[in-house]
Amino acid sequence: FVHQLADESVGMDALLRSPLHLAAQPSLPLPPQLYGAVRPNSRGLDLAVASSRAALEEAFAQADVPAVAPADPAQVPQAVQRALAAGHAWERTPVEHRASVLRDAADAMQADLPRFCALLVKEGFKTWGDAVAEVREAIDFLRFYASEAERIMQPVPLPGPTGESNVLRLTARGPWVCISPWNFPLAIFTGQVAAALATGNTVLAKPAEQTPAVALEAVRLLHAAGVPADALQLLHGPGETVGAALVAEPRIAGVVFTGSTQVAKTIQRALAAKDGPIVPLIAETGGINAMLVDSTALPEQVADAVVQSAFRSAGQRCSALRLLCVHEAVADTVIAMIQGAARELVAGDPAQWRTDLGPVIDDDAWSNLQRHLQRLQREATPLLAPSPFEPGTRLLAPQAFEVKSLEDVRHEIFGPVLHVVRWGGDPREVIAAINRVGYGLTLGIQTRIDSRAEALAREARTGNVYVNRNMIGAVVGVQPFGGEGLSGTGPKAGGPHYLQRFCAEQTLTINT
Ligand code: NAD
Ligand code: ALA
Repeated sequence: FVHQLADESVGMDALLRSPLHLAAQPSLPLPPQLYGAVRPNSRGLDLAVASSRAALEEAFAQADVPAVAPADPAQVPQAVQRALAAGHAWERTPVEHRASVLRDAADAMQADLPRFCALLVKEGFKTWGDAVAEVREAIDFLRFYASEAERIMQPVPLPGPTGESNVLRLTARGPWVCISPWNFPLAIFTGQVAAALATGNTVLAKPAEQTPAVALEAVRLLHAAGVPADALQLLHGPGETVGAALVAEPRIAGVVFTGSTQVAKTIQRALAAKDGPIVPLIAETGGINAMLVDSTALPEQVADAVVQSAFRSAGQRCSALRLLCVHEAVADTVIAMIQGAARELVAGDPAQWRTDLGPVIDDDAWSNLQRHLQRLQREATPLLAPSPFEPGTRLLAPQAFEVKSLEDVRHEIFGPVLHVVRWGGDPREVIAAINRVGYGLTLGIQTRIDSRAEALAREARTGNVYVNRNMIGAVVGVQPFGGEGLSGTGPKAGGPHYLQRFCAEQTLTINT
């Protein structure tokens, strides 16, 4: 995936450089404030303009991943008290000032991009391509939410037919608990925190226990840019103890959570069980994401999109493709192309430029995948050779299996494992079956019948629908991202309605 700078990569070069691929990816009008807006479909280009290979390698050689001590859950009430004390001043700081602090943080992160990339590779096992894209996404979140806060936090004058003056304004809610996952330890962490801070809230941030150092560096940077220390506090530690204590604290004003559906429901139950105010939850969770391929689709384009969507980031993206529903008329052709392309991918040390898939995050993830693969070996038809790697490496080459029915995939499988199912008949029935699975994060549609793409997208209960391209790498401010059903409560990160969710609203009526 990092062909532009990785001289020795054999990976996906041939496929990615094909004229067909380029023709299928028209250039986007780029909002000038978004640094990463060229990211997903220009592949390689982003690396070339973002940083030089030498700068990244030097940063990697120097990067330290500090050991970070977990917080004691008993410290949570004191942290909330500090957040409440800091909240008054931060909320009353003009929104333009808060926005300028976030923009300064974005500039600082951009200047420090190689070091953040190096940390993501060392601590999060990201490949270089994924690391650069992630830092740029974090920068985009900072800039986008700064601008959005300035836009939405202006009072809205309302009609005064009764002779009164009426104004509607958004206000901060108070201390937000921001709980984030390991798979985007910088971008999602920064996005949540920036959204809450831009709108005048204070933050108690609980990053994933697998990736504390990246979060620590992001917080240091935000403090240096001007966020008061008590307005943004970091509490490392296990979700079951530190996370749960934060959620249970009676004085928090909201929780923004990105992670598994199961933990989102645990948090929802814990919030509902508390006495006191009703605390809002923004939950962005997992998916069993499908791609529907009809008989008119371009097989080369499908193979490219499938390989990117299912195997990039070792399949450790919530948006990743898990279930390929391919029309029986083109199934053999498409499967053969996917097999050919997938075999070219290199799983290995993420710090090596030729690596396309790094290791999965930890031993638990590895064991879950092994269990699932053992079941598939018994119940499904393998389409790719078993992965040649030893368990200790946590490296998994791309895996694909043909299953009998899409109902065979019931749980989110978080790794480079693709399930393929053939279909014939009415594509609307396939979409209906995908809807019945209950998740609704991303959906791919591959067809050359424009009216069909539009009609199927309307039938889908899915947050992000991608037609004739891959289904990963949503761009901040351009492709607002988030799902429904089991995939989340609906708000779109990086979209124009996101920040409202962090605010209370007040209508001020004055009898003049
Ligand atoms: P996870 O649910 O295991 O953990 C997420 C966070 O929740 C971590 O910080 C964890 O410490 C914390 N946590 C765990 N138990 C908790 C509890 N009882 N109370 C409070 N906090 C608790 O998820 P993960 O393994 O870190 O991340 C992978 C998951 O995240 C996948 O399901 C993936 O689909 C999802 N994800 C979703 C999106 C999205 O935008 N929809 C983006 C990235 C990842
Ligand atoms: N926002 C990330 C993507 O679109 C998860 O892949």
